[in-house]
Amino acid sequence: MNGAGAMSFRVSSADRAFCALFAKLHALCFTKGWSEDAFADLMAMPGAFALLVSQDGAENSAPIGFALARAGGGECEIITLGVVPEQRGAGAAATLMRAIIARAGELDTEEMLLEVADDNPAAIALYKSAAFEPVGRRKDYYRDADGAGVDAIVMRRSLLS
Ligand SMILES: CC(C)(COP(=O)(O)OP(=O)(O)OC[C@H]1O[C@@H](n2cnc3c(N)ncnc32)[C@H](O)[C@@H]1OP(=O)(O)O)[C@@H](O)C(=O)NCCC(=O)NCCS
Repeated sequence: MNGAGAMSFRVSSADRAFCALFAKLHALCFTKGWSEDAFADLMAMPGAFALLVSQDGAENSAPIGFALARAGGGECEIITLGVVPEQRGAGAAATLMRAIIARAGELDTEEMLLEVADDNPAAIALYKSAAFEPVGRRKDYYRDADGAGVDAIVMRRSLLS
């Protein structure tokens, strides 16, 4: 499903100065947006790191995707990640995943973890393609737009070779 084979992306680190941009991108990606303050709090957590992805060499190099993760104690959790709808299917999230995993490795991560909604096949496929495996299920962890319970799938990837 690689829409534009030649497209390449650039990943950069972000800090709390970017929390308004994170809130804006998050709102474009999810039905329930997280506020700027929520991102400020998340970015202030020990071990938190934030990444932005842009099209490489594009005239408009505004970020099109984001990721927030937290590393510590040998574990790294991916907290949130998204690519704006009109830029999907071209490899931006795959590029972000490689950057998160590389950063986690620099932070002495042995194991990466995340939770993903059972009704989100695109994200589950993304994580599987980045070598994450399902290891658990949290029943009714999320609510969908109609208020119905949606399970979370817990996925894991070891960084130990
Ligand atoms: C999930 C999401 C981040 C994928 O972003 P993307 O830039 O379109 O993903 P990529 O183009 O890098 O795709 C990488 C891989 O993910 C999988 N994938 C991505 N979108 C997919 C889709 N719609 N259907 C099936 N697989 C998909 C494929 O395995 C793909 O590899 P391939 O292109 O070699 O087949 C994007 O759809 C999104 O932001 N969704 C809303 C927010 C969200 O759900 N975030 C994750 C929450 S846990």
